[in-house]
Amino acid sequence: MNYRPLGRTGWTVSDISFGAWAIGGAWGQVSETDALAALHKAVDSGVNFIDTADVYGDGRSERLIAQIKKVRKEEIVVATKAGRRLPRQTVEGYSRVNLTGWIEDSLRNLSIEALDLLQLHCPPTELYYRPEVFAILDDFVKAGKVRFYGVSVEKVEEALKAVEFPNVQSVQIIFNCFRQRPAELFFELAKQKKVGILARVPLASGLLTGKLRPNSNFAADDHRNFNRHGEAFDVGETFSGVDYKQGLEAVEEIRRLLPAGVSMSQFALRWILMFDAVSCAIPGGKRPEQVAENCQASDLPPITSETMTAVQRIYDEEIRPQVHQRW
Ligand SMILES: NC(=O)c1ccc[n+]([C@@H]2O[C@H](COP(=O)([O-])OP(=O)(O)OC[C@H]3O[C@@H](n4cnc5c(N)ncnc54)[C@H](OP(=O)(O)O)[C@@H]3O)[C@@H](O)[C@H]2O)c1
Repeated sequence: MNYRPLGRTGWTVSDISFGAWAIGGAWGQVSETDALAALHKAVDSGVNFIDTADVYGDGRSERLIAQIKKVRKEEIVVATKAGRRLPRQTVEGYSRVNLTGWIEDSLRNLSIEALDLLQLHCPPTELYYRPEVFAILDDFVKAGKVRFYGVSVEKVEEALKAVEFPNVQSVQIIFNCFRQRPAELFFELAKQKKVGILARVPLASGLLTGKLRPNSNFAADDHRNFNRHGEAFDVGETFSGVDYKQGLEAVEEIRRLLPAGVSMSQFALRWILMFDAVSCAIPGGKRPEQVAENCQASDLPPITSETMTAVQRIYDEEIRPQVHQRW
């Protein structure tokens, strides 16, 4: 496992880290045994950074992480998020009172005194024009409730605006072979400002693992079933907003580029690590075997420039028109 600095926090984080949404909920059933085994395997593999949120399984994901932290001696940084408990996303919802309640709940779930990294969980775009919300976050840091804060964004425009706030330490954004726009403008700016980047949905919700088929079935409580057209939340969070059938076709083109002995998931993750602005990718994993396979991507040799160009071409021709201007 290799490690990279996360913004100005002073932390160095595993470049393949762990996304803990699927072990919380909204991805079909994951047993507690499997979830804990996946987390243990992550730590065994050198992962020292876990991304979660208060709403993942209504606190289940945070509580599972607390269990792991209790029994492992390794230092593990936990990033959580707040804001999605709102019935409707409004800037007013990100009030001092609401944030205090969400932070206290996360502290209790995680069994800690201060949150390592609190991220606003895809708030409305307007929030990035309201400095008073960031002033409230500064107060939580001063009060010792939060060590650092950052944001999780839907759109590149939000990321560009977020880094204007001087105490934003990290931006979480969808970045993968099917979502390349963040690399255009935002990565350079983040580097200049020394803001960490968490590349989320790195496997395009499983599309970029290469295992999905036109007739793959998903459980009723898996967002790949119930949010395929954005019924429950931003459609970009499910398969990165790429049409399922067209995504599968593009995956077959990428499959032809795989170096010997490298799986599709590993290739997709190594592709992300080719961008040095990225602090880490945070793939989800439901079972230890998935986590082990994903973590091995960290130690793979760089992807050749010919292959990077080929991925770019596939994106430009097959995927770009569907996503580039939207997020
Ligand atoms: N708004 C936000 O802030 C937001 C939104 C989305 C995600 N996130 C964060 O980003 C993290 C990652 O994104 P994500 O979980 O949505 O999607 P992802 O990482 O692109 O896909 C994860 C899923 O792919 C499958 N998978 C993973 N590794 C595999 C392997 N080696 N082989 C085969 N299948 C594999 C698993 O599901 P199956 O086995 O069921 O296929 C897993 O749950 C989340 O866990 C969360 O922490 C944040």
